[in-house]
Amino acid sequence: MAETIKKLDELVGLCKRRGFIFQSSEIYGGLASCYDYGPLGAELKRNVKNAWWKSVVQMRDDMVGLDCSILMHPMIWKASGHVDKFADLICECKKCNTRSRVDHLEGKEQGETSRHAQTAPTDDLSDKVCPSCGAVGQFTEPMPFKLMFETQMGANADDAMTVFLRPETAQGIFANYRNVLDSSRIRVPFGIAQIGKSFRNEVTTKAFIFRTREFEQMEIEFFCEPGTDEDWWQHWKDARMQWYLNLGIRKENLRFRPHDDDELAHYAKACVDVEYRFPFGSGDWQELEGIANRTDFDLRQHQRGMRSVTKWIENGRDTINTPLVDEHPDYQSGPLSFFDDQNRKRYIPYVIEPSAGADRGTLAFLVDAYAEEEVKGEKRNVLRFHPTLAPIKCAILPLVKKEGMPDIARNIYQDLRRHFNCFYDEKSAIGRRYRRQDEAGTPFCVCVDGQTLEDQTVTVRDRDSMEQIRVSTDQLKNHLREKLDM
Ligand code: GAP
Repeated sequence: MAETIKKLDELVGLCKRRGFIFQSSEIYGGLASCYDYGPLGAELKRNVKNAWWKSVVQMRDDMVGLDCSILMHPMIWKASGHVDKFADLICECKKCNTRSRVDHLEGKEQGETSRHAQTAPTDDLSDKVCPSCGAVGQFTEPMPFKLMFETQMGANADDAMTVFLRPETAQGIFANYRNVLDSSRIRVPFGIAQIGKSFRNEVTTKAFIFRTREFEQMEIEFFCEPGTDEDWWQHWKDARMQWYLNLGIRKENLRFRPHDDDELAHYAKACVDVEYRFPFGSGDWQELEGIANRTDFDLRQHQRGMRSVTKWIENGRDTINTPLVDEHPDYQSGPLSFFDDQNRKRYIPYVIEPSAGADRGTLAFLVDAYAEEEVKGEKRNVLRFHPTLAPIKCAILPLVKKEGMPDIARNIYQDLRRHFNCFYDEKSAIGRRYRRQDEAGTPFCVCVDGQTLEDQTVTVRDRDSMEQIRVSTDQLKNHLREKLDM
């Protein structure tokens, strides 16, 4: 464990030093659990999101994309159950007044339990340790703590209301499912994908960008006929695991963990987590993505929500105190039902939801890629990113700043950057420049040297093997595009 925690500390250091990830508002002393992506980090996270979008939207006939606003009608969150149920069970230390999530408290002898291994309110906290002051068993009774951020919308008293920052992007998809069906040729079974920010006032944040209060999700809601849902669930489990493997995460660091019945979210019939072996927490294995069978819960709830809006207006737009009207007895024919014109039947589709975190995924790709090696008696830090994810695909380096080498290198740089992200560097010794690119995870370095002047070839250095081959400049673009699969 000490080794792995050291690995995370060193990775955090590298992320700051090389401009991957910074603490938010650092010049003001920082804002807890919020992070900013620097120049390399912004490229990396964008590549993670693009790879996800390519795999789930671009490469599939049965998927389309969506980009919803973060602020939505507050009754959406009433219907989804978040207004009433989206809370963590917390307790307060009587000694230091620090609040902790009950399911995160460790006993004197034990490590942290999983997020989903919820401790029931009646559970004994007498041997639990306060993570802040170390007092044992000094806790108040557990109480619910609401996780949604609230804000006020509207300047006039008669239309002002409390709205919520979305805690998941999923509800924007359910709210637009009818729009998508009506405006495209797509038919059930089909899915809608969305990438966007979500916000949760998490009680305990931890481990760098693993659990933060503002984060980005990559979510799919896949609509299918009831009865076919279990097959689709299996399909998405396989597809999503394969995505991580294809992008280079080592198999031994990934696993599925099915949820027990008592830890399922209120909307789910079944759920499995894709877990990654992160280098923190006593259990190591932590959730990377959840793949849930949400049944027809959300669409049915939104049919109730839609019918409750008049009551909400009459009630002064008070979302918390406006109950949802009962479900219509003929809900299967409601406005969010689907008519299958080939088989002449109408139903509310079931939904399979693969829900991944873009930041948590980025952290897993960083952790998995990070290695420390000794090369000829010197330490080398390297990020072995899959080329698709690497922030910079190729660095172009003149060996020395003379004999016309910078001009040739700059020309190569101008040509290659039209195809993929490149970096030009002529400062410091060549060995140091290679090391800097290894740390940035750049798969290839092109060096213009003395021989280039004679035979128009350059060296191409491979980040992982550190081997160099000579490639003629007129073949360089094709050579790299093939290697990078771009
Ligand atoms: N729509 C379903 C849903 O939101 P979830 O398990 O709460 O399910 C899905 O979240 C994914 O979003 C998680 O697997 C994780 O990758 C990411 N995620 C959730 N909360 C997060 C947080 N506070 N910080 C970073 N990522 C988070």
